[in-house]
Amino acid sequence: EKGGYEHYMLKEIHEQPQALRQAVAGRIDPIEERVDLDLSLSRSFLDDLDEIQLVACGTSYHACLYGKQLLETLADVRATVEYASEYTVGSGRDPSRTLVVGVSQSGETADTLRALRMAKRTGIRTLGVTNTVGSTVARECDDALYIQAGPEIGVAATKTFASQVVSLAMFAIDVADVRGDLDPVAGRELLSNLQDLPGAVQQALDRDEEVREVAEAYAGGEAFFFIGRRFANPVALEGALKLKEISYDHAEGFPAGELKHGPLALVTEATPVLAVLTDGARPEETRNNVKEVQSRGAPVIAIASESGHEGDYEVGFGVPDLGLLEPLAANVYLQLFAYYVADSKARPIDRPRNLAKSVTVE
Ligand code: F6R
Repeated sequence: EKGGYEHYMLKEIHEQPQALRQAVAGRIDPIEERVDLDLSLSRSFLDDLDEIQLVACGTSYHACLYGKQLLETLADVRATVEYASEYTVGSGRDPSRTLVVGVSQSGETADTLRALRMAKRTGIRTLGVTNTVGSTVARECDDALYIQAGPEIGVAATKTFASQVVSLAMFAIDVADVRGDLDPVAGRELLSNLQDLPGAVQQALDRDEEVREVAEAYAGGEAFFFIGRRFANPVALEGALKLKEISYDHAEGFPAGELKHGPLALVTEATPVLAVLTDGARPEETRNNVKEVQSRGAPVIAIASESGHEGDYEVGFGVPDLGLLEPLAANVYLQLFAYYVADSKARPIDRPRNLAKSVTVE
């Protein structure tokens, strides 16, 4: 059932190329350069839209942070992200010109359902992005967009993160296109990045053994920091969440620029720093932050664009040119790193203590 893998988590990490193909299957028309997600949102509703509010928890929240940037980059629309547990409609919103997008793998997370119900009561249209057909999120939202990742058994979300981001990327293209905001060059590039992503993810998966060696070499770290900018920031946050969940080590992710505003005080030779320096993520500036931690003796594990400087680091992994989706390929290295650190400590990876796959209490 685990397909020869020791844990569901590792199996699901390796299922990503397939999951990503399924996510876009039948939804992209490469000739017309269009996306069809079969949603009931009308042209006039999308045209008049003031704001898209994305709500979610945990890993799905990180996917929303990525999705917000895609929406704001492609479609000329304001997008905000809130933890579902903290969501309020907010003041000054016209409900008829607002869309709330609830992202939930399980479709059963109580906090997310609460936020969606609150929006609905206010008269706001809701879109659920979920992996689970027939889930409460899918049933209660005005529209459902299925990420089509296949079942995810491991408590730590892996393949569904990438599929959520890809679904939000297609949604961003669709919204931009309908509103007449889509820059044809940017749209074409993202569509081609979506097609190339499974191959790039496979390329990272093929280095599984190397990542294991690196993870084992650094597993003794006192704490682990993850940094990235722009599109790589949500991936840094996600990398830290994965590591803390399954290895029980202290891990923190933050925007690379925030390092010097506090966390740098914690950086020593005993705190490995994982830096995501992909294109579109202002890698040159992150390189400066990497130098800051290196000068304090911290070991750096860099995930960089192949076209950039992966070779400049003691430990480096490269990702091929994928435009705005490069951090998604980088994330695979972080998932494998977390997995192998946890595995080297013999943690119960598929069932970490205190956690449940679907959190049905607020
Ligand atoms: C992290 C993880 C959790 C979930 C969160 C939301 O690996 O699994 O943080 O992402 O509980 O769950 P869903 O997406 O089902 O709403």
